[in-house]
Amino acid sequence: MKKIIIGNWKMNPSSVKEAVSLVSNIDKKISSNGNVVLCPPFIYIGAVRGALSKKSSIKLGAQDCFYEEGGSFTGEIAPSMLKSMDVKYAIIGHSERRARGESNDIVNKKIRALLKKGIKVILCVGEEERDETGLYLKRIEEQVKEGLRGVSKNNFKNIIVAYEPVWAIGSDASKNCDPKDIKEISIFIKKILVDLSSREIGLSVQIIYGGSVDVKNAPEIVSNGGVDGLLAGRASLDAKKFSDIINLLFS
Ligand code: 13P
Repeated sequence: MKKIIIGNWKMNPSSVKEAVSLVSNIDKKISSNGNVVLCPPFIYIGAVRGALSKKSSIKLGAQDCFYEEGGSFTGEIAPSMLKSMDVKYAIIGHSERRARGESNDIVNKKIRALLKKGIKVILCVGEEERDETGLYLKRIEEQVKEGLRGVSKNNFKNIIVAYEPVWAIGSDASKNCDPKDIKEISIFIKKILVDLSSREIGLSVQIIYGGSVDVKNAPEIVSNGGVDGLLAGRASLDAKKFSDIINLLFS
């Protein structure tokens, strides 16, 4: 399975000028056989797309999307709007959105709306903390099952599951997630996907990892963590760091 590297810029950078410069620098530095998705804030998507070179290997993703197709929903963005901007992917259920009230039910509605429009979904799952009794596994299982409720097996090829343990994300992360633990969760998620579909379909879904990914830990996470790619936050805001990760994985 071809690996995928996704950059989530979150609410950065602070101007369109910086966004254009960042994407141009990344584009120049990465190898052409990379499989790369960049998810800028909605408002920069047009400018970022315009800054890509003709033979760029970068595809565009959004950081969220609303589930209605249009109407009186002030401030929201519909799947068809993303499609019209050539957006191929959308991150759904990121922990930073779940922390602000996004339920599994809302995540599910968004996923179904995006798939209807042919946009691939990066479904984020992950526990806030690990408890001794393994309740965190239940939480991940619910996020996967409820997020994918009603999604047909045929559409599993349009889903990527990103395991992002909340405690390993961001500059205030308590620690890094051990590749052994990433592997365990990746197997756990694969088993859920197989139960929801079939062995063949479930095992073909890409599972990626996010949480303080950097140049140093990226190769080990991919080789020992049993994942098919990475979802980087901070590292994707630095053209050198992000392109180094990409070039390491697609050399
Ligand atoms: P960091 O790589 O900054 O920890 O963020 C991870 C993340 O949340 C990506 O979606």
